[in-house]
Amino acid sequence: MRTLDDLLAEGVSGRRVLVRADLNVPLGSDDGVDRITDDGRIRASLPTIRRLAEAGARVVVTAHLGRPKGAPDPTYSLEPVAARLGELLGTAVPLAGDLVGDSARSTVDGLADGGVALLENVRFDARETSKDDAERAALAVELAALVGESGVFVSDGFGVVHRKQASVFDVARALPGYAGGLVLAELEVLRRLTGTPDRPYVVVLGGSKVSDKLAVIESLLPKVDRLLVGGGMCFTFMAAEGLGVGDSLLEADMIDTCKRLLAESGDKIVLPADVVIADKFAADASTESVPAERLREGWMGLDIGSTTAERYGEVLAGAGTVFWNGPMGVFELAPFAEGTRAVARSIVDSDAYSVVGGGDSAAAVRALGLPEDGFSHISTGGGASLEFLEGKELPGIAVLEGS
Ligand code: 3PG
Repeated sequence: MRTLDDLLAEGVSGRRVLVRADLNVPLGSDDGVDRITDDGRIRASLPTIRRLAEAGARVVVTAHLGRPKGAPDPTYSLEPVAARLGELLGTAVPLAGDLVGDSARSTVDGLADGGVALLENVRFDARETSKDDAERAALAVELAALVGESGVFVSDGFGVVHRKQASVFDVARALPGYAGGLVLAELEVLRRLTGTPDRPYVVVLGGSKVSDKLAVIESLLPKVDRLLVGGGMCFTFMAAEGLGVGDSLLEADMIDTCKRLLAESGDKIVLPADVVIADKFAADASTESVPAERLREGWMGLDIGSTTAERYGEVLAGAGTVFWNGPMGVFELAPFAEGTRAVARSIVDSDAYSVVGGGDSAAAVRALGLPEDGFSHISTGGGASLEFLEGKELPGIAVLEGS
């Protein structure tokens, strides 16, 4: 696989480089104006963009935001992202008004050596996510045309490498492709987890749905020493143990699967001993902390309890390797943030090699004010890192390896 270093050694001064980054950041608004609530992915994309710009490349960044329906939609414009990227780079980053149209062409034409521009949301074009190979390939050719004869492609959007999409996969066939610094760093970390991790290897899994995590649980179980479960998904496991879960999140059709996993896992899967329950899903709900078997009708579990956090903390203190994906509770609401904070704190305090697996857990680390350098690595890819750990082929990596 050719890398960014190889490209820099070839020389990029004056050449146009198309960089696929994952700038899919959460936006929030309390006054009608959308603001980025966590810019971690933009910051993680800076080193590759900077190295290219400093070497004199004309950097054309392509990225998505959210899941628009294949047509321009101002709600998903990359405008706030371009502004933040410019602030962080310390230079204006013009945003093209389209992806491969007149505006994109003139924005790219206007780039000087060392300049950086961003194309509008790549998912405004339905061909990006099309299942039809020819449609995706046609968009890839148009993206490639933007960077011209001496142009190249740098794949640095680790969070999207599990997607077989035009700007991730097909473009690496339309242009010489190179792996960017972020993609390489993420792969190195994940390979350490799938290789021979220091033991005990403890995985902490949260988030709302068991069904989303089933494949990764199945593939991790034989490899890990402990699997600590929290978040909304723990209630389906608790139901599988015969406990009542009141109005908590429940995937009834997954109960039998959870029963099987519990039976197969011996004592590897650890479930909460106590939970924080609430009479409604709101920050001003009435709350109580109760043993898991006392969860009752009319109440829902929204966080793990303090006894559970303490027990999980003891396991984490002795771990050699930790992988954490998914919050332990509804950390966005203050009364239900403590479980996630406590578990994250235990990971920070342990001497284990620790990896935070993207998305919500990475955002939780920053939102809860935990030190980012307290973890060995915070991945930018939630789905991508899970699929890697499941042993699936990641199309955006496979295409670089084959080129
Ligand atoms: C993510 O947020 O995990 C990545 O940006 C991929 O986004 P997607 O799940 O919409 O493809």
